[in-house]
Amino acid sequence: MRLALLLASSLVLLATNGQAQTAGPATPAEQAEAGRRVYVMSCQRCHGINLATNGIGFDLRTFPAHDRERFDRSVLQGVRAMPAWGGTLKPGQLNQLWAYIGSVNGWAVAAQAAPPTAAPAPSAP
Ligand code: HEC
Repeated sequence: MRLALLLASSLVLLATNGQAQTAGPATPAEQAEAGRRVYVMSCQRCHGINLATNGIGFDLRTFPAHDRERFDRSVLQGVRAMPAWGGTLKPGQLNQLWAYIGSVNGWAVAAQAAPPTAAPAPSAP
């Protein structure tokens, strides 16, 4: 069911690719793309290209998909050598970063909103 929905929305995305973006709620793919841009600007120098750690920051490929609370706290307030981003990120950018990290890690889009144990993650296409 969910997979079918996902496939359907990716088809819509493919179909509308290249056309002017209309205003409205961002799709998960748009969120992830916006998050990627924030990541490249603000996080990549410590966390590495595509989340593959360069040895400086935490390896975000291993961040637990169910721990959104910890993500928000660590990013907004900082933790040890990790600077706080609460004063820098614009509203919505935390969600975008989360969507980007989830997309790289292959977290099920639906699972990001659902309780952690609700469904096994579908395998990547
Ligand atoms: C100046 C380097 C630097 C930058 C820039 C940076 N980080 Fe980090 N980050 C770190 C380091 C170092 C750690 C490991 C902190 C520790 O646990 O000691 C870390 C840890 C984290 C963690 C894991 C925290 C936890 O709960 O264990 C997350 C999530 C994270 N960073 C997200 C981000 C995001 C998102 C950005 C961009 C907005 C970002 N970081 C930018 C250095 C950085």
